[in-house]
Amino acid sequence: MTIQTISTTPYADQKPGTSGLRKRVTVYQQPNYVENYIQAIFDSLEGFAGQTLVMGGDGRFYNDVAIQKAIRIAAANGFGRVLVGRGGILSTPAASHVIRHYKAFGGLVLSASHNPGGPDGDFGIKYNISNGGPAPEKITDAVYARSKVIDSYKTTDTADIDLGRIGTQAVGDMTVEVIDPVTDYAALMETLFDFGAIRAMFASGFRMTFDAMNAVTGPYAHDILEDRLGAPKGTVINGTPSPDFGGGHPDPNLVYCKEMHDLLMTPEGPDFGAASDGDGDRNLIIGKNRFVTPSDSLALLAANAHLAPGYKAGIAGIARSMPTSAAADRVAEKLGIEMHETPTGWKFFGNLLDAGRVTICGEESAGTGSDHVREKDGLWAVLLWLNIIAARKQSVDEIVRAHWATYGRNYYTRHDYEEVDAAIAGKLVDDLRAQLPGLPGQILGDDLQVAYADDFTYHDPVDGSTSAKQGIRIGFTDGSRIVLRLSGTGTVGATLRLYLERYEAADGRHDLDTQSALEPLIELADQLAGIKQRTGRQEPSVIT
Ligand code: G1P
Ligand code: ZN
Repeated sequence: MTIQTISTTPYADQKPGTSGLRKRVTVYQQPNYVENYIQAIFDSLEGFAGQTLVMGGDGRFYNDVAIQKAIRIAAANGFGRVLVGRGGILSTPAASHVIRHYKAFGGLVLSASHNPGGPDGDFGIKYNISNGGPAPEKITDAVYARSKVIDSYKTTDTADIDLGRIGTQAVGDMTVEVIDPVTDYAALMETLFDFGAIRAMFASGFRMTFDAMNAVTGPYAHDILEDRLGAPKGTVINGTPSPDFGGGHPDPNLVYCKEMHDLLMTPEGPDFGAASDGDGDRNLIIGKNRFVTPSDSLALLAANAHLAPGYKAGIAGIARSMPTSAAADRVAEKLGIEMHETPTGWKFFGNLLDAGRVTICGEESAGTGSDHVREKDGLWAVLLWLNIIAARKQSVDEIVRAHWATYGRNYYTRHDYEEVDAAIAGKLVDDLRAQLPGLPGQILGDDLQVAYADDFTYHDPVDGSTSAKQGIRIGFTDGSRIVLRLSGTGTVGATLRLYLERYEAADGRHDLDTQSALEPLIELADQLAGIKQRTGRQEPSVIT
């Protein structure tokens, strides 16, 4: 093997976003684009000589090309071993587990999550640290800085690795070990949940549909749900991963899983429906006649986690991203445990999980997880739900209603305006930010008194770091909130996210239609920010 040092010129746009560097495939296909970015990552790290690096991706288009490049660059930079999922595949939570389980130095996760795939879709690369979680901002900032001045990268002249063959191969002095992507992850799930109880539930006729959306969770779901838990064959649909996700949009929400949702609303439908996204970290939960919002799901999982063996001693605390509804806060209050509000993105949960201050974390964007890994975990959420249903012997609908009757209901919705002109979106946010100091105390709309209005700043209680400008929050005295921020994962223009929340007490009305219940806040948000007028859009692109 010869180590080659290849000259290159920097790209100006390699700034990692909410979750790694996500770009159009065509951007990634530019000469040295992958090479520059991976070398910039390695240049920002210290002490990895001879260490293990984990690699795997969601199998989307370009996964196979990028992973071979990454293996050569890792060898040339002096890693001792690469652990890679067969076929270059690892779901994001499985990658996180493999990093932790094998005490790796870190990992490269090749994914653009729920964004569409294929030659015209998106691709992404994310670096995770030794705790299995996304690199903190200190590292992502350093990577960006390095990417702007990089002038060479190191690679080898070796042939591609056979990623179809489980076992060990070599690239010069570096070992490449191809592992089964499912085995370690499935074994971890068996330690957390009461597989016996869930198996008995399926055996007694409980019916479920799991939509793997032609993405990475197919093999995991077939193995765990059908083979280990005995759910009938056919429980997992769209279970064969394809590089363009079958032409679909692998985001498990009510827009892209409408068919499953509608089926769950019929008497003939199954008892339980669930789905996961492109890389397996998001989840969608629907019971018969009951869609569970991700914010409610976080609260419900936290309140019932003790029913699963892995959490029977109780949970230490809960963390949620700032835009996520405050439903979980009420559970934490009742349990007398810590509650943390963090900026959007899983990387902010890592410190709290490592410090043992929280056990369960979640985001309104269909992400929930626990301290078993350092990523959100779609199948984990599905299995915890199954465990809770098996233990409580109640339907999802009954469990949700009982929860609201105890804690009250946080009506919640998110309105996305996608591919808005970036300058218009930036100005809209700036102008709203400028209004904030004058808002507290004012009565707006229909008798809503502003309690606070700010641009969220997070002070990490573990490492003392500060992250400013994380989204505008306008909170009202009755517990309602308007939150507005720009997406950090979009690849074209800007995506404006508007989050709305209203609280109904335990003895209040819990059967209203969500959009109607939030109508006054939706109106008010538009008045304050001028969304329709400035963007020229009459409707959001996606409502979740
Ligand atoms: C979105 C979600 C966020 C999630 C991220 C990665 O980020 O809103 O909660 O962590 O995807 O899955 P955004 O595009 O809003 O920056
Ligand atoms: Zn994802």
